[in-house]
Amino acid sequence: MSKKLFIETLGCAMNSRDSEHIIAQLREKEGYETTDDLKSADLILINTCSVREKPVAKLFSELGVFNKKKKEGAKIGVCGCTASHLGDEIIKRAPYVSFVLGARNVSKITDVLHKDKAVEVDINYDESEFAFNDFRTSPYKAYINISIGCDKSCTYCIVPKTRGDEISIPSELILREAQKAVNTGAKELFLLGQNVNNYGRRFSGEHERVNFTELLRRLSKIDALERIRFTSPHPFHMDNEFIEEFAKNPKICKSMHIPLQSGSNKVLKDMKRGYTKEWFLNRVEKLKNICPDVSLSTDIIVAFPGECDEDFQDTLDVVRRVKFDQIFSFKYSPRPETEAEHFTNVVDEDVASFRLTTLQNLHTEILDEKNLTHLDKIYNVYFEDLNQGYFVSGRSDNNLVIKVKGSDELLGQFRDVKITQIGRTILTGEIVG
Ligand code: 5AD
Ligand code: SF4
Repeated sequence: MSKKLFIETLGCAMNSRDSEHIIAQLREKEGYETTDDLKSADLILINTCSVREKPVAKLFSELGVFNKKKKEGAKIGVCGCTASHLGDEIIKRAPYVSFVLGARNVSKITDVLHKDKAVEVDINYDESEFAFNDFRTSPYKAYINISIGCDKSCTYCIVPKTRGDEISIPSELILREAQKAVNTGAKELFLLGQNVNNYGRRFSGEHERVNFTELLRRLSKIDALERIRFTSPHPFHMDNEFIEEFAKNPKICKSMHIPLQSGSNKVLKDMKRGYTKEWFLNRVEKLKNICPDVSLSTDIIVAFPGECDEDFQDTLDVVRRVKFDQIFSFKYSPRPETEAEHFTNVVDEDVASFRLTTLQNLHTEILDEKNLTHLDKIYNVYFEDLNQGYFVSGRSDNNLVIKVKGSDELLGQFRDVKITQIGRTILTGEIVG
């Protein structure tokens, strides 16, 4: 009988892909199969995120629960960004944890499994050319890492400390992985990196210097591949060549996540983001001019130290002008080993809450207005999920989530869908072609 692995994944798409790599290695080398039943698991893993404070506190309470519920002899391992940042402190605080595996050390999963109390969290470890075994949660789309780490020094962000310096994965490896995924049925690629459009700046060995735009061109030549998505581009690296390729290449989905963080030049400077409000708006304008149907999403942090009401109004101004289709908004959360941790001009908690609500309410208004424009429109949907047995959902090219009545026969298919009902997060429609 195979051994059972229970894995919980928190955080971003990068972490989801790391979990797929962990599962792949454990399946091939150790004979594990995944399970949703914690109590029957031989190995319990939490793949953690440390980008904000709350998830860290939650980790220890969750570990306690897992330890109580686990079956006799089962091991618990902590992986991911919090593993990188807390290291052996995790075992000190929760001695029943068997090993700690950092976000930059995923390939060592089969080693740490056999060493009691192993802590592998070296952020200089180079996994950029490691050939992971194959495993994908979805047969329809393939997540592919194109770089590891992050070279920026945003003053609020812990990621450079958990994932180390940025190294691009050689383009020939990415192309090979993409081709393999397409050969086994994936029609969509989702490229992952902290700053995807900074791709090609540094490789670990001698490799052809291919930039992100060229990588997109080469990937789009794969026959039978229909769609390419990626996350996240950095506003600073949005040059014209990249925007033009994005607009004219029919395989690149017309939706983009561009993290704004703040609309105030003063705050952007304090965050060390490397661009201004005007540059951000200029890039969006260029994008919308040549690609009018593009859908845009973003990340915004409110109440960064020193953010005054005028700064916050600048953020609202950008939101009003860009009319993002989706906003991930957060209250600033001080993180260890970051520059901003030492900033003293902290914004009051009630002001922070008020700003977050104001931003979210404004966005809801924008969305309600935008959503009306989708009614009766026809979108080409790639169906990926079966919900409650009788709804099938998928995404349009411009990233709208759309469901129709139907069965699993639709999964993996592209269909034209006319929108009949609108909702804030999901649209309903009927197949028309
Ligand atoms: N506090 C609040 N939000 C943060 N993010 C990153 N670091 C912090 C922090 N210290 C947000 C950013 C980033 C997203 C993944 O998380 O908006 O784009
Ligand atoms: Fe992803 Fe950042 Fe969270 Fe790490 S800290 S899992 S990189 S969101």
